[in-house]
Amino acid sequence: NAMLSWQRTSYHFQPQKNWMNDPNGPMFYKGWYHFFYQYNPDAAVWGNIVWAHAVSKDLIHWLYLPFAMVSDHWYDINGVWSGSATLLPDGNIVMLYTGSTNESVQVQNLAYPANLSDPLLIDWVKYSGNPVLVPPPGIGLKDYRDPTTAWYTPDRKWRVTIGSKVNTTGTSLVYQTEDFISYELMDGVLHAVPGTGMWECVDFYPVSTIGDIGLDTSVIGAGVKHVLKASLDDDKHDYYALGTYDEETESWTPDNPAEDVGIGMRYDYGKYYASKTFYDQNKGRRVLWGWTGETDSEAADIEKGWASVQTIPRVVLFDNKTGSNLLQWPVEEVESLRLTSKDFINVEVGAGSVVPLDVGTATQLDIIAEFEIDEEALEGTMEADVGYNCSTSGGAAGRGRLGPFGLLVLADESLSEQTTVYFYISKGIDGNLTTFFCSDESRSSKANDVGKQVYGNTVPVLNGEKLSMRLLVDHSIVESFAQGGRTCITSRVYPTEAIYGAARLFLFNNATGASVITSLKIWKMNSAFIRPFPNDQRI
Ligand code: FRU
Repeated sequence: NAMLSWQRTSYHFQPQKNWMNDPNGPMFYKGWYHFFYQYNPDAAVWGNIVWAHAVSKDLIHWLYLPFAMVSDHWYDINGVWSGSATLLPDGNIVMLYTGSTNESVQVQNLAYPANLSDPLLIDWVKYSGNPVLVPPPGIGLKDYRDPTTAWYTPDRKWRVTIGSKVNTTGTSLVYQTEDFISYELMDGVLHAVPGTGMWECVDFYPVSTIGDIGLDTSVIGAGVKHVLKASLDDDKHDYYALGTYDEETESWTPDNPAEDVGIGMRYDYGKYYASKTFYDQNKGRRVLWGWTGETDSEAADIEKGWASVQTIPRVVLFDNKTGSNLLQWPVEEVESLRLTSKDFINVEVGAGSVVPLDVGTATQLDIIAEFEIDEEALEGTMEADVGYNCSTSGGAAGRGRLGPFGLLVLADESLSEQTTVYFYISKGIDGNLTTFFCSDESRSSKANDVGKQVYGNTVPVLNGEKLSMRLLVDHSIVESFAQGGRTCITSRVYPTEAIYGAARLFLFNNATGASVITSLKIWKMNSAFIRPFPNDQRI
C-alpha cells in the first residue's frame, strides 16, 4: 500500500499517488493559498503532465482539488507545462503556462479562472486564441518555456520573461504586453550567462534592502534589489544572483559578476529544483516553493506508487547583514505542527564523540541547534584544511582539526544508518576562518539503489555570531538551514532500519582538536492534514 510506505512524508506536500514535479502558479486569493503542480495522473514517473491543484489556509494543511488544466488542445496535447500566475489590479487573474504542442513545440498559453467569485478557483478556461506566444526566430522550438509572473512598468505595460538558450548560453527573453494576448519581444534580453545552458523556470523579483518585508513583483526604486533565478537543465540545480534591474533597458546586472546566475549561489545545495516564488499579500512576504524529487530508483518509485515532495514553503529575504545573499526560512505556519519540545543546554561534545539526544521517536522533528567551538583550540590552530570542500573531503567521517561536528538524524540505535548535517571550519595561515555547512547521505541507508551524496557549501558567519542550524526532519526528507537560512541543504534519504520507532537523534563531533558546546531545542512535529476536499465527488 503506497500510503503506508515508510518513506512517505507526514507534513510535506505530496500528492496521494503518482508523479509530481514543478510548483506552478502559486498565489493567495480570497483567503486561500493556491498551489498548482506538474502531475502525472497515470504513473509515478514523469509524463502526461497536467496541472493538479490544491488549496490551503496556512501553507501546511492542504486540500486536493480537481485538476485545473489537462492536455486537451493541440497546443498543450503533449503536456500542460510550468507557468505562473499574475494578479491584476482590477481583480482578474491571468495564468501563463507552457504547452507542448502536437509537434512537441514549446508555446506559451493563457488561461484564467472561469469564476472569480469562487475562492477555490476550481474551473479554468483556456483562452480561445492560444497559443499567445511561439518561439521567435533564432530560438529552438524546444528551448522556450516556463513564463514568469508579470510585472508592471511605469509606462503602463506588463512584462514577462521566458527562459531559453542560444547555443550554450542560458538566457531569458522579455516580452511586453498590455492585455496578455498580444506581445512584443523586447530588443535586449533580461540577462544571459555563457556556458549555463537552458534556463528553466526563471524567476525574477524584487527584495527589500531596508526592511524584513516581502515586495510585490512590480516594486522598483530605492532600497530594492532584484533576484534573478534560473533552474539549469544541464545540472538540475537552482541558481540565483542579486543585482540591479534597469527598467529603461529592460536588463538586469549582477552585483558580483563572479557570482552570476548559474555560476554562483544556489538556493539549496541538496535536492531542490524548479522553484518559484510568489508575493503573499496576506502576510506581506515573498514565499518560495521548491520541488524535491526522489533519489531512489525509478523502479522503487513505481513500486511505492509515488514520487516527489515539495519543501516546506520558505520566506525569502535579502540578508542585510552580509549584503550578498538571501535568507530562506520555513514559513512560520509550520510551527503550528510543533508538539512537545525538549531543551538540551550546553551539552559538551568532546573531540571524536557521539552523544545521544533522547527525544523518543525521531522521524518528525523541528530542531534548532547552536554550536560553540572551543575558543582555545580555534585560536591555537595555525592552519586547518584550507582546501576543504563538502562534497570531496570525505564527508562526516573525514576528521580534521576543527570539524566536522553537528547532528546525526534518522539514525538507528547502533548508528548503522545515519544522515549527518554538520559544520566544518577551515582556517588559513592568515587566520581567516571559512565555515562549511554540509550534509552527508553516504551512510543514510543500507539500500544500494539510492543516492548517497555529500552536499554543501560555505556559509557566511559574521563576527560574534554563534554557529546555528535548523533542521526539519520528516521521514525521508531533511531540510537544513544554517545561520538563519544563508545556506540551505535538502536531502532525501531512505533508511531501512532507522524508521518508525527505531529512528534516533545524536550529536557528533569528529574534530580531532576541539570540543564543541551545543544547545538545542527539539520539537516533535505533528502530521499535517493533506487530503481531498470534503464532499468533492469530482476528484
Ligand atoms: C522543469 C521542467 C520545466 C517544464 C516542466 C515540464 O522541471 O522541465 O522546464 O515546464 O518541467 O514538466
